[in-house]
Amino acid sequence: MTNILLVTSSPRGPQSHSTRFARDIADSLSARSGGAIVERDLGATSLPHITAAYIDGRIAPPETRTPEQTEAVDLAQSLVDEVQAADVIVIGSGMINFGPPTQLKAWFDHITWPGVTFRYGATGPMGLLPNKKVYLVTATGGVFSEGSYAPFDFQTTYLTHLLGFIGLRDIEVIRVEGTLVSPDAARAAIASTEAQIRAALERAA
Ligand SMILES: Cc1cc2nc3c(=O)[nH]c(=O)nc-3n(C[C@H](O)[C@H](O)[C@H](O)COP(=O)(O)O)c2cc1C
Repeated sequence: MTNILLVTSSPRGPQSHSTRFARDIADSLSARSGGAIVERDLGATSLPHITAAYIDGRIAPPETRTPEQTEAVDLAQSLVDEVQAADVIVIGSGMINFGPPTQLKAWFDHITWPGVTFRYGATGPMGLLPNKKVYLVTATGGVFSEGSYAPFDFQTTYLTHLLGFIGLRDIEVIRVEGTLVSPDAARAAIASTEAQIRAALERAA
């Protein structure tokens, strides 16, 4: 059985392409393996931005933490626990101003935790999460996989870097791109995404 963590982050609710396709991937993996899906819908329920209580609390010995620090650290720990418990992680991210949505950034700010999910060693930074498969669905109004906008895809580059930084290097990127270029481009984008997902799931079979 494969435990699946589905992390969606679009603020656009049912209109979201990244949520739709991330959910499709999670459902297919679940149907195939009988695995359970744990959902973390950051678009519906945003995490707080990290605060001094979290930053100071996570380095303070547990018995010395203030109630506020304990609450902040416990929240981050519960998010790390979800990641740890998963065999496969499916993430949906829809580009906002050339990067991921702030909802997803807040999730990474909680789980990117020195001594817990990464550490600095003699040879530099080291991810501490055990490697596991990640499907990263990135939705963008424009086209970023090629062409003049490719250098500005800070969403995919940032997310793949950060995942690798905490130890998650086995990443399949699925793009939904060009949906705002024209109606024809939107139709082609959806067809392309469906084909990318089929191919990714076949590789995983
Ligand atoms: C506030 C806002 C900012 C956006 N910024 C960009 C952008 O910088 N580049 C881009 O190609 N598309 C941009 N878009 C379009 C979204 O990336 C596109 O609609 C995508 O499908 C959103 O993901 P979602 O469908 O999962 O919500 C933006 C959309 C919104 C609402």
